[in-house]
Formats: sequence, C-alpha cells, structure tokens
Amino acid sequence: MFFSFISLLAQRNEAKKVPHESQPKAFVCRTSLPLSCHETFGSRLSWTPAPVLGDLISYIILQLHLYNYFYLLVMQPIKSSGYSVFFEEDDFHQLAHFLKQHSFSKLFILCDTNTRKHCLPLLIKHNPSFKNAPVFTYSAGEKHKSLDTAHACWNFLLKHHADKNALLVNLGGGVVCDLGGFAAATYKRGIACINIPTTLLAMADASVGGKNGIDFMGYKNLIGTITQPRGVFIFQHFIRTLPIRQIQNGFAEIIKAALLGDKKLWANISAPKPKPQASFIYAAVQVKNNIVCKDPYEKNIRQALNFGHSVGHALEAHYLPSPKKYLLHGEAIAIGMCVELMLGRVLKLSKQKTVSNALAYIKQHYPLPTFTAQEISACMQLMQHDKKNKAGKLTFALIEKVGKPLINIQATAVQVQEAFALYNAFASAQKFHKL
Ligand SMILES: NC(=O)c1ccc[n+]([C@@H]2O[C@H](COP(=O)([O-])OP(=O)(O)OC[C@H]3O[C@@H](n4cnc5c(N)ncnc54)[C@H](O)[C@@H]3O)[C@@H](O)[C@H]2O)c1
Repeated sequence: MFFSFISLLAQRNEAKKVPHESQPKAFVCRTSLPLSCHETFGSRLSWTPAPVLGDLISYIILQLHLYNYFYLLVMQPIKSSGYSVFFEEDDFHQLAHFLKQHSFSKLFILCDTNTRKHCLPLLIKHNPSFKNAPVFTYSAGEKHKSLDTAHACWNFLLKHHADKNALLVNLGGGVVCDLGGFAAATYKRGIACINIPTTLLAMADASVGGKNGIDFMGYKNLIGTITQPRGVFIFQHFIRTLPIRQIQNGFAEIIKAALLGDKKLWANISAPKPKPQASFIYAAVQVKNNIVCKDPYEKNIRQALNFGHSVGHALEAHYLPSPKKYLLHGEAIAIGMCVELMLGRVLKLSKQKTVSNALAYIKQHYPLPTFTAQEISACMQLMQHDKKNKAGKLTFALIEKVGKPLINIQATAVQVQEAFALYNAFASAQKFHKL
C-alpha cells in the first residue's frame, strides 16, 4: 500500500514538471495543510514529503490513496435527481456499464487543451469505446466559457452529424462541465451529456447539480440552463496532474460544503490534526446533492449553495480581464465567504464563534488581498446583476452557524460596504483579532 502511495507522489512530482498552459501567476499559493502524511502514519512511514508539496496537497494525495485501497468499498454511487454520481476505479467499469445500458447513436468528447493532454489518453485507454469519438478541444480558461466557444461546440456537433440520441462527454474542470452542459442542453433542444470532472473543484462541486452556462458581457454564468447530466463519473486520480494552485482552488468549495451542511467534515478539516476520512470529495458531493435534490431549480434552499458566491462571482468577473490580479473561481469564493461572513456579523445574523473560526481557517489557507474603494464599488456594480437579487435588492446566502444556512438575506449597499471594510481590516491584520 505504501509503495503505491510513494509511486503516486512520484508521478505527481513528474506531472508537476509539465508546463501548464493556463496557470495564472498573480497569487502565490500557500500550501497549508489540514494533515501531513507523517501525522497520519507516524513512524511507520519512512518517507519525507518533498518540500514543494504542502500539507494540503500531501493530504489530498493521501486521500486518493486511501480512497483507492479502502474507501471505494464504502463510496456507493450517490443518487441524484434522475442520475447518479459514480466513484470510479482504474478500469472505469461503471462508465462502461452505463454506456452499455444506453444505446447512444454517437459519442462526442469535449475537452480543453489541458484535459486533452492530461486526461483524454487515460480515458481512452480504459474505455476503447471513446477511441473513435470526435473530440472538440478549446483553449483552457474561464475566459473561454463564452458564447463563442458554445457556438464553436454547436458547430462541431452539427458538422459531425450529432443527432438527438448523441452523447456529449464533458471531460474537464468546472469550465468544461458548465460549457458542455450548456451546449448539450441547447443543441437540438437538448441532447444527453455526462460529466467526467478532472479538477478537485469540479469533482467536489461543479459536475453535480445540473447548473450549466456561459459568462456573458462580463457577468458570470449569465446565460445558462438547469439541465441534469445523465451521469457523473468521478475518477479522483485525474487530480495527479493538476497544478497545486488548482488543488487549493478546489478546496474552497469543500470548505463551503462543510460550513453549509456537514459539521463532521468541518470539524475534521479545521481540526489541528484532522483524522483521515473516506473522501472530502464524497462528503462535499453529499452535501451539495442533498440540497439540490430538495430544490433542483433553486426556488428555495438551493440558494444556500451560493454562500460566498455573490461577492465571489463579482470579484472573479471583475479581475477576469486582468492578468495580474486574475482570481481562480475557488480563490474568489474563499474571499467571498470571508466578506459574507463579515456581512453576517454586520446584520447580526451569524454566530460570532462560527465567523471567527471560519475566517481564521480561510486566512490560514488562502491569500486574502485587500480592495480599494474603486474595486469595491466595481464589484458592487456587478453584484447588481446577481441572480438571487429580488426587486433590485442585493440578496445573499449566508450562514448562521456551521450546518445552518440562511437564504434570501437582503442587505443595503452601506451594509455590504461595511462588510468589505471589516474584511479589509481583517485581511491586512497581521494577527487575527476576535470580532
Ligand atoms: N455548475 C456549477 O454548479 C458550478 C459550481 C462551481 C463552479 N462552477 C464553475 O466552474 C468553473 C471553475 O472550475 P475549475 O476550477 O475546475 O476551472 P477549469 O475548468 O478552468 O480548470 C482549471 C484549470 O485546470 C486545468 N485542468 C483540468 N483538469 C486538469 C487535470 N486533470 N490536469 C491538469 N490540468 C487540468 C484546466 O485546463 C484549467 O486550466 C467556473 O467557471 C465556475 O463558475 C460551476
């Protein structure tokens, strides 16, 4: 068992040498960690992590290892609305079974440039049925989650005579899942798609729940549908080739899931010495799926999943054109959660202890930049178009305490500015002062 763990790490280090096409450089990733391998196995493990790997990364790799050997047994498919989320072993047998069960007329694959290089060969190796499938590849990155790329994807499907019974396979991170889900939901008024997420963020969050879409006129996810995929197939080993900053990025959605709906997961990730558990990803998917199944079309409780996203989406959209300050989705959500935790205090709705603990935890794991008055005002402009707003009023999803989400919370511009001011003071403070 330990052999495979070490070989996994060796492969991970090899993978790190591959230059990455769209790795933004603006924020230095803090490789802070809930748990190191030494803490888990003590002296039984005669291996020292390479200094380049932070504890968080080591821990996630350890999770992959544990997952592979023990926990796959307990990771039964998670039933969602009309489809299942499968946790795959090396042979992708659940995907093979799914394809056998359904007689799709033709298979199509959607990739970005990175997943074509790092993930497609592995998928084809284990699923020969994909060998001759036409592949549509577009340039990696959020800026390509656009109408132009959707247009090119529709064109590709048309050119290859995709009919109503075709299947689009979205192989990639949240951008591929969102874009492919949208292209499939709209082409010929809807063809089937499945998600095979390849980033931590997409595995833990974006591949599940059926929300899809594209960014439009500088607004995040302005155009899109809620259409469930036919299946989600999670193969955690794809994470091996993911750059460290992307792993940190994905972990933000796991923090969100823990704060929203899983006290055990929160206690575990925030403990000084967390215990290994089956899979953070599995736990996060369960939290999201429980909420989505209650309210698939976001009329009510599903809004809770937007915790951190009103501010986070505005920040992500605002900095998207800026090569220097560019924020990944999860980084923006981490900051967004901090501002919205502050808003919970301004509105006197969130428990002080929860806010303090969550802020301290996020600060420990993510770089928290401060924002100028102009930047705050630009973000507040973008927030005017948030889909949760009602009658022109800024509307938020907050938390009262861990496991207790609050939805439909309205705040005035002054209250939001106050939350940003508290955030700025907190982000720039050397030491964390209790609120
Ligand atoms: N629909 C939803 O419910 C939902 C939820 C959360 C986030 N999202 C969306 O997800 C997007 C963010 O997703 P993301 O963080 O996965 O971004 P992403 O899809 O851009 O992937 C991040 C980067 O990693 C690369 N990559 C992907 N898999 C790789 C692998 N295995 N090895 C090496 N490189 C790999 C990609 O090419 C890209 O450069 C945002 O657009 C966000 O709005 C959607």
